[in-house]
Amino acid sequence: MFVMQKEEVRFGFDVYDSSADLSVEDKALLEAARKVTEKAYAPYSNFQVGAVAKLSNGETISGTNQENASYPVGTCAERVLLASAAMIHTNVPVDTMAIAYHNLNGESDHPVSPCGMCRQYMAEYEERVKQPIRLILSGMNGKVIILEKASQLLPLSFGSGDLK
Ligand code: THU
Repeated sequence: MFVMQKEEVRFGFDVYDSSADLSVEDKALLEAARKVTEKAYAPYSNFQVGAVAKLSNGETISGTNQENASYPVGTCAERVLLASAAMIHTNVPVDTMAIAYHNLNGESDHPVSPCGMCRQYMAEYEERVKQPIRLILSGMNGKVIILEKASQLLPLSFGSGDLK
């Protein structure tokens, strides 16, 4: 077996010690995401996720995770947000989305990153409106990660082009 070619995918991201080190706009968006975790419906996991996005038309939109007694029916905060954005502000790009979580069973002191299904959803949203979604990730306190493009989290992804 000969390997003809090796490929590599790399991306960088910024890490901040706390929300106090962010720009005024980013800090406000993250604080809003932390606040909206209160509106999560997460009685099964006790893991409350809040997302707030600033759209390119200046509007703000939010989402929280919505669980269900039939567990797989539950939807993540990111997809609740983007589905609302697609309906209410159709084809308006999302500039930045802040995602925070409050783990009622433990610590909420480090950033977590979106699940695979949300990565797929965000990647297609970027493709659809032809603009990357910048992500701010954090818990209720502690470090903050900022990524310039959500789809960087899903290299070699399956997309609409593959169906042609
Ligand atoms: N969850 C989100 O809403 N967003 C994420 O990025 C990770 C996970 C939700 C799904 C489920 O309701 C709970 O968090 C625990 O997995």
